[in-house]
Amino acid sequence: MSAPGRSQALNPGARSAQGRPTPGRFISFEGIDGAGKSTHIAALQGWLRARGHDVLLTREPGGSPLAEQLRELVLHRPMDALSETLLIFAARRDHLQTCIEPALARGAIVLCDRFTDATFAYQGAGRGFDLHVLQQLETWVQQGRQPDLTLWFDLPPAQAAERRAAVRAPDRFERQDLDFFTRVRDGYAQRMQQAPQRFARLDASTDRDGVWAQIEQALEQRPWW
Ligand code: TYD
Repeated sequence: MSAPGRSQALNPGARSAQGRPTPGRFISFEGIDGAGKSTHIAALQGWLRARGHDVLLTREPGGSPLAEQLRELVLHRPMDALSETLLIFAARRDHLQTCIEPALARGAIVLCDRFTDATFAYQGAGRGFDLHVLQQLETWVQQGRQPDLTLWFDLPPAQAAERRAAVRAPDRFERQDLDFFTRVRDGYAQRMQQAPQRFARLDASTDRDGVWAQIEQALEQRPWW
């Protein structure tokens, strides 16, 4: 990959939540549980840091001290879809204000393990929560902020379930059945249809090197390196 060098500043032009340009770049990682994004997000962090970039690796729900507390509740306490959605957006608001926006303003590359596409996929498509309400919450909370690039690790739900079973005990979402994850996958596909230029769909059923090659390709295709 033609690496963005230390002296080669990222092309400014992204907009902050208030509409001002910010020099950093915001990359989100999405996909159903078990798709393998965590391995690659760590690899990309190492790859970018080795090339001199300021990188913030973070996650949702969570990422800030308050949002991490909300994450504990969302992942482990029973609640209805509205409470779940409001907590996720409250966590997102704090995470954006205290971590993501300041990092972008100083020119960092923010790598975020999940963002709002996950809410549309899990709460919207998966749980059937009202998409119009989600759109309103997205507008209120993000005020225009969207990732510059979303890497969608796409994998058939049955294959993802096999991978999950091999590695860890399930949380509240991971215990859902195949139908749920099929809807979540469809939810991601719909989000990609609505913003095709932001998304890169990766075939996550290939081996680790194969997925990494697709990540490199997605980054190379961006005009900002
Ligand atoms: P995940 O990235 O799977 O964390 P880990 O790898 O540590 O288990 O995210 C935790 C769960 O949160 C995941 O099952 C999806 C769910 N989630 C939502 O339901 N809605 C959201 O908006 C987000 C960000 C995550």
